Amino acid sequence: MEHPIILAIESSCDDTGAAVMAGGKILANIVAGQQVHEQYGGVVPELASRAHQQHLLPVVQAALQKAGISKNDLDAVAFTQGPGLLGSLLVGGMFAKSFALALDKPLIGVNHMRAHILAHFIEEPRPQFPFLCLTVSGGHTQLVVVRSPLEMDIIGQTQDDAAGEAFDKTAKLLGLPYPGGPRLDKLAQQGNPLRFPFPVNQMPGYDFSFSGVKTAVMYFLRQQTQQNPAFIEENLADLCASIQHTIIQTLMRQLRRAAAEYGLTNIAIAGGVAANSGLRAELQRLADELGWQVFIPAFQYCTDNAGMIAMTAHFQYEAGDFATQLASPDPRLKL
Ligand code: KG4
Ligand code: ZN
Repeated sequence: MEHPIILAIESSCDDTGAAVMAGGKILANIVAGQQVHEQYGGVVPELASRAHQQHLLPVVQAALQKAGISKNDLDAVAFTQGPGLLGSLLVGGMFAKSFALALDKPLIGVNHMRAHILAHFIEEPRPQFPFLCLTVSGGHTQLVVVRSPLEMDIIGQTQDDAAGEAFDKTAKLLGLPYPGGPRLDKLAQQGNPLRFPFPVNQMPGYDFSFSGVKTAVMYFLRQQTQQNPAFIEENLADLCASIQHTIIQTLMRQLRRAAAEYGLTNIAIAGGVAANSGLRAELQRLADELGWQVFIPAFQYCTDNAGMIAMTAHFQYEAGDFATQLASPDPRLKL
């Protein structure tokens, strides 16, 4: 068995994950989602913490079993230290600390946003340093210049909603159940993206803003449904396609400008929104137009998972970057 053998735990939001990695290769990657939030239309932090408590042990056991690894074979235990929901981070962090203490193994505290980016190193093809990564999730939207596994600079980020939040909130305005992003994506595939033009935000620098598109959609729907109560129903696919198009154009405008300014052609995309079919297609089109090499992780490594935490912990292990039993979760941990 190649070394180091790392058990990684992810519990930053509403997915409980455990992964086992040996010598940089994934042996197991288990995720338990939480359906309890669906009825509330968003993640309820207290319920998320409780569900993590219930899921952690079975998820860790399943990961060790799938990997064929005994807990005594582990070289380190890694956990997500932040950013994320405080209660959720506490549950995963406490578990990892107790586990490491009981086994007398070193601990590794991992930054969730770095992990989304380093998910690109789990499988081939891997981007070459330096590269530009657009991380788009339910909680974050960041444009990052990645110089090495441990050196990254944020050059732009959202000033209000995250891209995934923009998808979820506009989907909610259309009456779609939470999380609306994937549902909106599916419906958009049958629609005309140019039917309803919404404003594409033009922030200076490389920052993003999505509150404008959300408000524009809200006022537009209010006005239209006053005249025709069935407006949304009758135009659902075109509305989804037009909203998706606007969000993608907002993201691509900054990505294009940053790639040109920094002279980078290895372009990576990470986070749950990287699953969006329109975004993938547009990136591929830009790759052809601009000579980019585009990298998108497999779906299971785009959404929250412990495999990416294990990958990041692997790089930290090599660099000797360990945590102590005093490590505490940081909901606002910086990249
Ligand atoms: O990275 P992730 O799994 O969790 C966070 O760390 O936030 O991202 C979840 C976000 C949600 O907002 C979800 O609606 C969005 O990613 N998402 C999508 C798609 N699949 C997931 N948004 C648009 N199109 C999709 N296909
Ligand atoms: Zn995430």
